[in-house]
Amino acid sequence: MLRRLFVTTALPYANGPFHIGHIMEYIQADVWVRFQRMLGNEVHFMGADDAHGAPIMLAAEKAGTTPEAFIAGIAAGRKQYLDGFHISFDNWHSTHSPENAELSRGIYARLKEAGLIYTRSIEQLFDPVKGMFLADRYIKGECPNCGAKDQYGDACENCSSVYEATRLVNPYSALSGAKTELRSSEHFFFRLSDPKCVAFLREWINKPGRLQSQVSNKAKEWLNGEGDKALGDWDISRDAPYFGIEIPDAPGKYFYVWLDAPVGYFASLKQYCARKGLDFDAFVRPEKSKAQGTEMIHFIGKDIIYFHTLFWPATLEYSGYKTPDQVNVHGFINVSGEKMSKSRGTGISPLKYLELGMKPEWLRYYIAAKLSANVEDVDFNPEDFIARVNSDLIGKYVNIASRAAGFITKYFDGELLAPDGNNPTNTVVYASEESLTGDYDAREFGKAVREIMRLADLINQRWDKARPWDLAKNIADPGTKKQLHAVCSECLDAFRILTYYLAPILPETAENVAIWLGLPTPLRWSDLRRGIGRKMGPYRHLMTRVEEKQFDALLGLPAAPPAKEQKTVSDIPKMSVQSHSMADAQRTVPAPISIDDFAKVDLRVARIVKAEHVEGADKLLKLTLDIGAESRTVFAGIKSAYDPASLEGRLTVMVANLAPRKMKFGLSEGMVLAASGEAPGIFLLAPDSGAQPGMKIK
Ligand code: 2FM
Ligand code: ZN
Repeated sequence: MLRRLFVTTALPYANGPFHIGHIMEYIQADVWVRFQRMLGNEVHFMGADDAHGAPIMLAAEKAGTTPEAFIAGIAAGRKQYLDGFHISFDNWHSTHSPENAELSRGIYARLKEAGLIYTRSIEQLFDPVKGMFLADRYIKGECPNCGAKDQYGDACENCSSVYEATRLVNPYSALSGAKTELRSSEHFFFRLSDPKCVAFLREWINKPGRLQSQVSNKAKEWLNGEGDKALGDWDISRDAPYFGIEIPDAPGKYFYVWLDAPVGYFASLKQYCARKGLDFDAFVRPEKSKAQGTEMIHFIGKDIIYFHTLFWPATLEYSGYKTPDQVNVHGFINVSGEKMSKSRGTGISPLKYLELGMKPEWLRYYIAAKLSANVEDVDFNPEDFIARVNSDLIGKYVNIASRAAGFITKYFDGELLAPDGNNPTNTVVYASEESLTGDYDAREFGKAVREIMRLADLINQRWDKARPWDLAKNIADPGTKKQLHAVCSECLDAFRILTYYLAPILPETAENVAIWLGLPTPLRWSDLRRGIGRKMGPYRHLMTRVEEKQFDALLGLPAAPPAKEQKTVSDIPKMSVQSHSMADAQRTVPAPISIDDFAKVDLRVARIVKAEHVEGADKLLKLTLDIGAESRTVFAGIKSAYDPASLEGRLTVMVANLAPRKMKFGLSEGMVLAASGEAPGIFLLAPDSGAQPGMKIK
């Protein structure tokens, strides 16, 4: 039975361009969607911008424009990423749309009728200068627990205590600096804690196949929480000024962005159905959906499980809509072990990746190879990326085609022998069909890729064993010639099967192979056993190799000098230590330099005014250095050896004329000197007492 699928990815905030975390999610969903289409299933893959909320309103204000113009600018930039990485959304819409306003208000009205909405007055901090109530992230003050200054409204970075913003001492607005005032205001709540709601969710999260076990366990914890962890009702309103959807009959009150954000999934589908003449209700209303067997499937990241397993199904259930059939959750992407920040991304810009001419399919393949059906983080490691693309994808898969195509063109005028149904190679390759379709459907892409590479290894072994290059030497002999023809045809047919297997991950390459080998397009799983065309077109190189220098450029590393000490991606995991202190730089004594060479290095005494941890960095400390006339920021890989507090006030030595370098966490304007050797430890240099910041070292 064919399936009818309505598939979504989390709607990205319209406050900035996509980062690599978004692209990873889209690749995961896109591979799955393309696989379903290859099976002949009907897929409607929907995306949209999540355009509402205070951060977007404030970002627009900062940019000196209206929120509408601001989000339109962001929306205009989406296509180049989606096309660039071959993400095949069928529609891209916005939560700031008539469809979304109508749907959200309709849902709200039904919830109200069901007695699940009530109002209550709450006290909140108000910024009298901005004339608005402030969310926790816009409030600062002294920690009620330890007294640390300038702490945010939800938690203290100094003592880690968590509190209500109203408990901050001397609170002020982080937006205007004004002293905040405690004011009360009427808010609308959704009765999530209602016993019928809780009972419904308990059952909902347990339906087999709906949630990964890690996810349903998490949801269970929330549902079973007691005391101050007990499930609370959900505050769904915000006061003007707010960029959002106004609540009917409540002037100056808006839906909280998270109420209308997931409704944006429906809004996109509704717009699309109108354009395509499809019945929207068949996907979103329980009875019609049941009758027509439609499914609703979300792909999201692990940070928004709460919204998608509690609020979203509950609001749908009590407003007459159907609830999601699957919520597929993935982990975060870390780059070389460093955590990604949601707002800043990882320092790997997807657009720069494309602009450097790096191939979208390398990234698709690499991400697919790293993904499983679990909620695990994915580590993006440049060395690993290069190895997998060059050694596996090109060295194993593409290699089969380029090896066999040469002989077929040269000796057989592009003619292929029809594959013998029982030849041992394709028998083995066909045998994996069932496990591979199962893996794709279950989002076990890494497993599928490993299996496909195992098959590629077998085909290459079959090739090597036949020694075609030796057969070609004896081409005058008709028997040998036939043997050569057979092995080339057999391996190319096996390559054709692998191309079907890889097509959800490599759509562009699969299409090129289809044209080259004369396969029916679009590639459908049902054509898998139709065999190969009789004559192939001219062979065009299918994929280029990734080069280290492309990664150097992507990561903003300086262009490699010709010397053998050059930094390349293989240094990246150690980069923070090696390039930003002199630790470990040279083990052998290098060639002599002239005094003029040495004089080019501007070494200065520096006072460490401030030393701080860098959020998400394992090895780095951020140092603020005073060198007399000016102050510099330097990221130094010395975290393993020094507690930041112990460094403040100390004198050290810095290279003051090193070209500033853009790092993931900011600009590093020089480097401090430290010693290291075979034994563990990093030792910061220090001048003798009496030296003053700014003094030159010569
Ligand atoms: O966390 C986020 O980036 C949200 N913009 C995701 C919204 S998903 C859906 F609910 F719209
Ligand atoms: Zn504190």
